[in-house]
Amino acid sequence: MPGINATLQNLDKEKSNLIKALQQVQEIEGFISDTAVQTISDYFVIPPVEVEGVLSFYAQFKRIKPGKYIISVCDGTACHIKGSSLVANWISDFLGIKDGETDKDGVFSLETVACLGCCSLAPVVSINGKVFGNLDRRKLLKVLKQYKQMG
Ligand code: FES
Repeated sequence: MPGINATLQNLDKEKSNLIKALQQVQEIEGFISDTAVQTISDYFVIPPVEVEGVLSFYAQFKRIKPGKYIISVCDGTACHIKGSSLVANWISDFLGIKDGETDKDGVFSLETVACLGCCSLAPVVSINGKVFGNLDRRKLLKVLKQYKQMG
């Protein structure tokens, strides 16, 4: 996978490319680190605060390094009807993190997403892309405990 500098070299130093640059960096690193902010600001010859301004404006950008396991709770229509908010609460209670947060050990991140494309299994979560469906509290906690043991 190319590094940040190699990626930036493919973009003209036009400010209109700033968002594209941030998207590409996030694709490589999974988030936008302080180092990446500085590198991007150097490349486009703009102050870091200007890069931060763009980052805070667009919700798509993550400033915190995601955990080893990213738990995506589906809140599409089918899952919503089947209790996705309860599922999110069970996860929050068990791991002590809310939507958009990562635990202090950097193991789990929690996010809410739109339909994961397997509505017949609602309610559904995915962990690093692996889908778990037809969840009730017992089944969900069993899965979470397994991941916690793997650490
Ligand atoms: S709504 Fe959850 S998988 Fe489609």
